Amino acid sequence: MIYLGYFLFLFCGLTRVMASYPIWWSLAVGHQYTSLGTQPIMCSSIPGLVPKQLRFCRNYVEIMPSVAEGVKIGIQECQHQFRGRRWNCTTINDKLAIFGPVLDKATRESAFVHAIASAGVAFAVTRACAEGSATICGCDSRRKGPPGEGWKWGGCSEDVEFGSMVSREFADARENRPDARSAMNRHNNEAGRSSITDHMYLKCKCHGLSGSCEVKTCWWSQPDFRVIGDYMKDKYDSASEMVVEKHRESRGWVETLRPKYPYYKPPTETDLVYYESSPNFCEPNPETGSFGTRDRTCNLTSHGIDGCDLLCCGRGHNTRTEKRKEKCHCIFHWCCYVSCQECTRVYDVHTCK
Ligand SMILES: *[C@@H]1O[C@H](CO)[C@@H](O)[C@H](O)[C@H]1NC(C)=O
Ligand SMILES: *[C@@H]1O[C@H](CO)[C@@H](O)[C@H](O)[C@H]1NC(C)=O
Repeated sequence: MIYLGYFLFLFCGLTRVMASYPIWWSLAVGHQYTSLGTQPIMCSSIPGLVPKQLRFCRNYVEIMPSVAEGVKIGIQECQHQFRGRRWNCTTINDKLAIFGPVLDKATRESAFVHAIASAGVAFAVTRACAEGSATICGCDSRRKGPPGEGWKWGGCSEDVEFGSMVSREFADARENRPDARSAMNRHNNEAGRSSITDHMYLKCKCHGLSGSCEVKTCWWSQPDFRVIGDYMKDKYDSASEMVVEKHRESRGWVETLRPKYPYYKPPTETDLVYYESSPNFCEPNPETGSFGTRDRTCNLTSHGIDGCDLLCCGRGHNTRTEKRKEKCHCIFHWCCYVSCQECTRVYDVHTCK
């Protein structure tokens, strides 16, 4: 009995570290991240890199802070998009597997996080290159075709192809197994990256006497990352459920994904795919990584997922009042300052039972 307990303990410890999503994402949170930029990156100290990633890190060490930054903005965007929902993209700072076991299953949530993280890496690397913070990359000179009506090329067009290449080489390096989960991750990572390419736009700046816009210079720019987040959230809502198929090929068994419902439109390369259903995230469960929704703040007037009914899973809610100090009765004085008084307002705060 004691031996069995010990064995289970070991086994659990092992699975905790061998999450089925990238351990190196932990670069983006906690103390490892804050030391980036102040100290040179030691590639060998980044946890969970496969040999290809280690080589990549050593060859392109100057863009590694942007890779970490990209995962960070991806996670921040995930937390923004899911802020009022039962699962809200929480990360755990003191663990290597920063999402806990939630992403071990091939769910919609896993699909979203992979897509937004690989989009984040492509985005951050592309931006850093355009800002001139690395020597191996820069602006995209291929974009400069003939000028348009009333404007000419100028500034620095962002080279999204380079950023995407970095994301593909680094983030996808471990996704080369012949199993279904690898196929899913590859697909969703690429969907995330292509969302950036698809949202590139011409950004212009006016020059001329007192902003007359006599001369307009334009360059190719990435969108705000919020645009990518909103778009990927739509893709999460409309993600395609797949089933796993096994084929025997010369290199052995290979798993592929096929749409579960043949009468729906099959997923395109920009759609997210998943093949396992999500837990309901209502109750805490260390096995699924659900934190439950107890004590979460809910919105009494909303009928959506952030409303008290749905967020609290029908358990009901508690209400307390909270006093907040706010600026009020502000007066504009000519010229030029604003003076305000401080008022105390009382709010009702509802939290799930
Ligand atoms: C997200 O969920 C966790 C766990 O339920 C909770 O502790 C945290 O406050 C939530 N974050 C936000 C922004 O609601
Ligand atoms: C609560 O939900 C209502 C209706 O959807 C919305 O208008 C309001 O802004 C929400 N309040 C907060 C604090 O999110």
